[in-house]
Amino acid sequence: MVKLNKQSLRKQLLIKRSELSPEFVLENSKKIAENLLNLDIYQSSNNIMLYIATQDEVQTQKIIESAQRDKKRIFIPLIIRRDNALLPSLVIDFKKELIPGILGIYQPRKEFYRIYPPTVLDLIIVPGVAFTIQGHRLGRGGGYYDRFLSQLEPKTLSIALSFEMQILNKIPIDIQDIPVDYIITEERVIRRD
Ligand SMILES: Nc1ncnc2c1ncn2[C@@H]1O[C@H](COP(=O)(O)OP(=O)(O)OP(=O)(O)O)[C@@H](O)[C@H]1O
Ligand SMILES: [Mg+2]
Repeated sequence: MVKLNKQSLRKQLLIKRSELSPEFVLENSKKIAENLLNLDIYQSSNNIMLYIATQDEVQTQKIIESAQRDKKRIFIPLIIRRDNALLPSLVIDFKKELIPGILGIYQPRKEFYRIYPPTVLDLIIVPGVAFTIQGHRLGRGGGYYDRFLSQLEPKTLSIALSFEMQILNKIPIDIQDIPVDYIITEERVIRRD
């Protein structure tokens, strides 16, 4: 029952999000990036896992460029379908090393896999379909991030990037769903209560 609710909500939100104009996505992603770059917890993080955004997700390009200028180490999530797992892979040259993979999500080419244990991470930037201010998260439905977040040490913080339209009053949650520590939108920084 809960699963069905999640699926229908996910579908509804994904349709709504796909209707956002490219201008809206770009402009608000820029504000969200600025809000993130201003946070102490971002500035003091040296090992950051970050997703490569699809067209209508909060974009992460500006964050990547800024992190590279600041000589932070950036890992992107490598999806291992066979094991239902996400693994952090260090990326050095974003232009050269990535190709589109599952769902059009960019992943490193095999020869550029540089896999590290999740414990090296200070910060993980999480995508999502919908969130609540309690930090609850609805993802794409694979449970990849839930499994990944459950392995992290307490020192590793999680920050979700979300447009305001993705913040809902309530989303169905299961026992395995792991909340994020912070959510950043174009208007505010939400610390889960
Ligand atoms: N820690 C876990 N161990 C085993 N199964 C899990 C775990 N976390 C989630 N799952 C399973 O994964 C499936 C998808 O979970 P859910 O619908 O919450 O995905 P999601 O959070 O939307 O997706 P994602 O995290 O990939 O963005 C569910 O069947 C759930 O039981
Ligand atoms: Mg989940």
